[in-house]
Amino acid sequence: MKVVVVGSKGTLGLALSQFWNDPRVASRIAASSGGDVKPTNDVVVPLNLPDFDICSRTHAIHTIGDLRPDVIVNASGINLIDWLESRPNTARNVHGHGVSNLKTAARQTGALLVQFGCGEAFYRKRLSAESTDDPEAISPDAPGFSETELTYPASVYAKTKLESERIAQEAPKSLVLRFSSLFGETSEYSSGNLVNTLFNSLARTKKISVLNDRVIEPLWTIDVLCALKTLIAANARGVYHLTGNSRTTPKELAEYFFKRCGYRDREVVGISSEEYGVTAPQSAFTVLRSVKYDSVEGAYKIPDWKTALSDYLDWRQSHLIF
Ligand SMILES: NC(=O)c1ccc[n+]([C@@H]2O[C@H](COP(=O)([O-])OP(=O)(O)OC[C@H]3O[C@@H](n4cnc5c(N)ncnc54)[C@H](OP(=O)(O)O)[C@@H]3O)[C@@H](O)[C@H]2O)c1
Repeated sequence: MKVVVVGSKGTLGLALSQFWNDPRVASRIAASSGGDVKPTNDVVVPLNLPDFDICSRTHAIHTIGDLRPDVIVNASGINLIDWLESRPNTARNVHGHGVSNLKTAARQTGALLVQFGCGEAFYRKRLSAESTDDPEAISPDAPGFSETELTYPASVYAKTKLESERIAQEAPKSLVLRFSSLFGETSEYSSGNLVNTLFNSLARTKKISVLNDRVIEPLWTIDVLCALKTLIAANARGVYHLTGNSRTTPKELAEYFFKRCGYRDREVVGISSEEYGVTAPQSAFTVLRSVKYDSVEGAYKIPDWKTALSDYLDWRQSHLIF
């Protein structure tokens, strides 16, 4: 099988393009299923800016057409939610026109098009004493959103990401995987993530301010790769939510991170999104529920966030990956 990974220098793209055939990924999938999973020997082609821009229609379609892939994985995108809010044309260009170009390439080559979506598809405010009658407000303990839940995007980012999903599903064969948030190794090109920020803080400060008014579910990029590989093997199509059925706040994650890494002298201060200076509407609750995913035979069982983070820290420390 030939796989093209678009946005290969981003957080997710890096994991997908570097570890697609890694035996440890096969072992991780095997451990979740209890079966025997052999490492794959697929051809993986990484594509990223500046050589490959999904918005350059002719170039993008011809490049992918020449490669004749079986799978096009679109891990590109712009995740800077506040920044995009005042740049709707940029958002529409990358998340709309860019994905449309990949759809054309998928149609011409007969490839499966894989697109990623986010929990921001379901905007909610944090429930408070004043907002009990507000239909946009949600309790931190509420069940996650399932694949069939009505979407409700609020930011330019969320609206255009949903547009990406819609366009991708017009391809003859498509898969849309939504998740809440990611952690994993980053390159200088990645938009970064909370765990990466925590690593960077170690040498700089003993006190760090982290949001405490969001409920999220962080997923390790390697687990997204494992889930994707099992969905492709199962010939799955349509929208799937990826979740390890666990939730946290960024503050709780930071506290666990420092404890797990043995830094007991670190102070984590909880701050609100308002104090942080968030400007675009960002959801207070991006927890998902995976009803459809759970029904796929052989689907990788995604671990809870603490297990995944712990595994990532072990893997990183052993210098076996990255
Ligand atoms: N990160 C999360 O917590 C999260 C949560 C839910 C869903 N997602 C989704 O998961 C996917 C991957 O996210 P990520 O965190 O890995 O993103 P990321 O680290 O920001 O990486 C995105 C990559 O896309 C590239 N890119 C941007 N515009 C491009 C274009 N026009 N043509 C080709 N490549 C382009 C970027 O290159 P440059 O850096 O050179 O611009 C970057 O390498 C995205 O669809 C995102 O919306 C992410």
